[in-house]
Order: sequence, then C-alpha cells, then structure tokens
Amino acid sequence: MRLVLLGPPGAGKGTQAADLCRRFGVPHISTGDMLRESVKAGTEVGKKAQSYMEAGKLVPDAVMIGVIEERFSRGDGSRGFVLDGFPRTVGQAEALESLLARLGLPIQRVISFSASDETIVERIAGRRTCPACQTPYHARFQPPRKAGVCDRDGEELAQRPDDREEKVRERLRAYRDQTAPLVPYYEKRGLLRGVSAEASPDEVFRAVEKVLTALA
Ligand code: AP5
Repeated sequence: MRLVLLGPPGAGKGTQAADLCRRFGVPHISTGDMLRESVKAGTEVGKKAQSYMEAGKLVPDAVMIGVIEERFSRGDGSRGFVLDGFPRTVGQAEALESLLARLGLPIQRVISFSASDETIVERIAGRRTCPACQTPYHARFQPPRKAGVCDRDGEELAQRPDDREEKVRERLRAYRDQTAPLVPYYEKRGLLRGVSAEASPDEVFRAVEKVLTALA
C-alpha cells in the first residue's frame, strides 16, 4: 500500500496514519514528526525549519524535498508507506512524483480528509502530544489511560507550541492557500478519494479501509 493522506491541521491524519501502518505493517512517514525531531536534535534541517514551524508557516519546498529524498533513501518504502503531511504544495507533489517514478513506487491512492473549522479547533485545542514518541491524545476524544501521561512510554504529555490559537489560524491559511490545490492535482490523476473525518477515529478508519479495498 502506497498512500498519501491529505487534510487540514488537526483533521486526524496522524491518528489514522498510525492505525493504518499498524494494520498494514508499512512505515509511517510523517514530515511533521520528522521536523519536530530535527528541531529537538538541533540538526541543520531543524535549524532551517524551526522559525517557519513556530510561525505556523510551511517550511520551504527545497528543505522538504531534501527531507523526503533522504527518508526514501533508507529503502523501507519498497514495503509500502503512508505519507502523512507530505506533499503540501504542488512543487512537493511534482518532486514526489518524479522521485517515486525513479524508485518504481508510484502512489496508489490519495485520501483527502475533510472536517469543519469547528471540529478542527476542538480537536487541536484538546490535543496533547507525547514529546518522546509524538503519539497524539485528546482530553475528551482519545484520552490516555492515566491523565497527562503517554500510554506507551510514561512521558508527560504537552501541548505543541504551534497548537496555540493564533498559530492554528496561520496553519489553516497555509492549508487553504498552498495545500488545498493538491485536491484537484490528484483528482486529475484519478488517485483522490474523499473521506469525512467528522466521525469517531474507528469509524473514520473503517471508511478509509473501504476506500482501500479496491487496492487489495
Ligand atoms: P504536521 O505535524 O504535519 O501538522 P498538521 O498537518 O497541521 O497536522 P496535525 O499534526 O496538526 O494534525 P493531524 O491531522 O495529524 O491530526 P491528529 O491525528 O494529531 O506539521 C507541523 C508543521 O511542520 C507545519 O505547520 C509546517 O510548518 C511543517 N511541515 C510539516 N510537513 C511539511 C511539508 N511537507 N512542507 C512544509 N512544511 C511542513 O489529531 C488531532 C487531534 O484530534 C488529536 O488530539 C487526536 O487525538 C484527535 N482526533 C483525531 N482523530 C479524531 C476523531 N476522528 N475524532 C475525535 N478526535 C480525533
């Protein structure tokens, strides 16, 4: 399975990607998670990305294309993959298309999640993330077993700095201006399927599975 997940911030891409990767045994390639790790580790990429991420803006294509090329050079993409948060611009989509053509691993399906602004705001406001493994939780919708603590590694959960209200507004703007044009881009290539992200995580997962059955 070679899949791209598209959707506004907080729609639930990371939550669904993690479940899909567990179910299908393929790597979860989240550029947001990779960038947060690079910022934490103080790498060159992290230094270039930090100010954009803090402002809720997209990191420039030249940086991101380098990140994704490096990620695919590991070779585990031949088992399949779920791309979560990449591509986010038409330039990134074109670069991905030629990279995957070179590797003989073309995208099979692009799922576009839709959610109302009200849903997005509610999900992001209640999100708490594990700073170590980056698993997202939600105080109301996906609470950890013990309040404030990651189920997997016992780390204290925290709010992402870009989850504050004014940053979320900027991220939504970036989505509408720079990422939403990917919907017609992939529609034209016959790869796009829309899935409503409004239901519970399990129901959304079942809707995604239905869309993927045609690939089995
Ligand atoms: P990134 O980390 O990719 O952020 P995002 O796209 O804004 O997505 P989120 O992580 O906010 O949300 P999600 O859709 O994954 O939702 P989640 O599953 O967590 O990117 C961060 C930044 O990095 C960008 O702003 C940019 O600066 C930079 N960046 C990354 N990639 C880039 C690229 N390619 N180019 C340029 N810059 C890039 O769920 C949200 C919450 O809702 C959680 O609390 C969860 O528990 C809950 N939830 C999930 N599903 C449901 C449900 N069905 N019902 C109820 N609650 C739910």
